Amino acid sequence: SIFKIAIDGPAASGKSTTARHVAHRLGFTYIDSGAMYRAITLKALRRNIQFESPSEMPHIINLANTSKIHFATTTPIGGSGNDNTPQTIVYLDDEDVSADIRTMNVSRNVSFVAALPEVRKAMLAKQRRYANSTDIDGVVMDGRDIGTAVLPDAQVKIFLTAITNVRAMRRYEQLKKKEKELVVYEEILRDIEKRDKADLERKVSPLRKAIDAVVLDTTTLSLSEIVGKIIEMTNN
Ligand code: CDP
Repeated sequence: SIFKIAIDGPAASGKSTTARHVAHRLGFTYIDSGAMYRAITLKALRRNIQFESPSEMPHIINLANTSKIHFATTTPIGGSGNDNTPQTIVYLDDEDVSADIRTMNVSRNVSFVAALPEVRKAMLAKQRRYANSTDIDGVVMDGRDIGTAVLPDAQVKIFLTAITNVRAMRRYEQLKKKEKELVVYEEILRDIEKRDKADLERKVSPLRKAIDAVVLDTTTLSLSEIVGKIIEMTNN
């Protein structure tokens, strides 16, 4: 059967970097569930859908039900530093949107989209389908509700945290490097606080630690320590 690792936690707590490294070490498939909500949000933004207007909600739900989202991995050759872990490419209707889904405009609106129950239902079905594809040995999936709602049967569940300022600074450094837009630290901090609040307060599958999840704090632990701890847990 397929081995499942669920990694949840608040915004910019290091979930995707951790998940990518764990998947690489174990030869598992990495699925970034947040990227899926971001892709639907990007599509809605491109169509000028008014997010707060109730009459527009059916359009967003329709996008969630009709869009094709898939992932591919590439191994960078001679990439910068010594991070040769595979990178995930996100495709929305066969277009590579990996960079476009990380903009602040998407970040600002994604939690609204992710709070719509029908959108979650559509994404959950896709996420379970990925996790149960017969051609994979194991899956590492990260998000907000993976251990609680998407993969409650996961053998290993992690809840990654870090103090808000540390998370905001890491995301700032990450976005600054990409130079796709002007990044302001204060703005990123505000976005993270707003998103965490919305993710905690939504009715359907709010951000929660699963009762059987292990809490790891990335404020005090390094990436390699965290990856090591998770690998260790898969051996028990
Ligand atoms: O990378 P970061 O932690 O900033 O966010 P993300 O994982 O890309 O997720 C973006 C947003 O999608 C979150 O703030 C949630 O609103 C939503 N999301 C969700 O509702 N459920 C998930 N399983 C994953 C993401």
